[in-house]
Amino acid sequence: MFKVKPLAAGRLPDLLRAMPKAELHIHIEGSLEPELIFALAQRNHVDLPYADVEALRRAYVFNNLQSFLDVYHEGTKVLRTEQDFFDMAYAYLMRAHADNVLHAEIFFDTQTHTGHGLDAAVVVNGLHRACVTAQAELGITASLIFCFLRHLSERAAFEALEQVLPQRDKMIGVGLASSELGHPPEKFARVFARCRELGFRLVAHAGEEGPPAYIWSALDALRVERIDHGVQSMQDPLLMQRLAKDRIPLTVCPLSNLKLCVFPALEQHNLARMLEAGLVATVNSDDPAYFGGYINQNFTQTFAALGMSAQQAWQLAHNSFAASFLDEPLRRSYLQRVDAVFESFE
Ligand code: HPA
Ligand code: ZN
Repeated sequence: MFKVKPLAAGRLPDLLRAMPKAELHIHIEGSLEPELIFALAQRNHVDLPYADVEALRRAYVFNNLQSFLDVYHEGTKVLRTEQDFFDMAYAYLMRAHADNVLHAEIFFDTQTHTGHGLDAAVVVNGLHRACVTAQAELGITASLIFCFLRHLSERAAFEALEQVLPQRDKMIGVGLASSELGHPPEKFARVFARCRELGFRLVAHAGEEGPPAYIWSALDALRVERIDHGVQSMQDPLLMQRLAKDRIPLTVCPLSNLKLCVFPALEQHNLARMLEAGLVATVNSDDPAYFGGYINQNFTQTFAALGMSAQQAWQLAHNSFAASFLDEPLRRSYLQRVDAVFESFE
């Protein structure tokens, strides 16, 4: 544990922005800003049910996960070509780089887009080319996590997996996203077992709106290595013990939780309590174009609301790299960069 020096009053937000970090929970379609949605709609001759950028932004009022997913799905309809996927992902990677994100593990799905008549390869190739280009031009590293849509069937998940296997080498892992309630992880036990055999790293959304039982089954039926969200774990002391003992990371997204009414106010968020309980929590943006902030906004607003400390900032930066799927040499070098910034920060 690195002991963080006392910080001058008012300097914590600057430290939160300056500290090197990894982002492990970002849906790339959730980074599509309204301006880019309108630009792509024009480029691809797609009609949008919103008069302009402002009207679209005004629609970003949600009361639960499903009300968000419905609007989010409208936005994905403008994505038609490999270049569109490249442009979306490159815009995100530039924005993340500006927030001192050194490494990103990016969720995407193909089922949304094959449902719109696209080839899965168009999606994967465009996103992958953005990751390669951003590494060359900005130095940020990024890898892709292929998400199954849990409101669709197991059979549809197997079909989607089949379709992306020619691009196997462009993806590091698989995940599980979309409407949680009524779609428990065990619905996908067999497809996750297959992905495990194929050498994919495994993660799943669980315990965002769903009960602790969904986190247990993500761990025991899917055998995931990380839980996305997992904020409902705090209702189950035995589960908390398990998560702490096995050092299962949780990719927490505070502004998402606020906008989707998982917590009534940021002041009620359980991020600080998770750290105090010894859980490997991380901070992430989820769908930043929709939820009012990229990763640094998630850090600064949550730290202000909960009165969190510079020591907790170091812990979260450290956790983000510890929880990542980076290879060991690069993980170590990024962790050294975290410590160097905390040491030299005045
Ligand atoms: N939860 C589930 N599915 C999603 C989310 C989320 O927060 N964002 C995009 N797809
Ligand atoms: Zn998510």
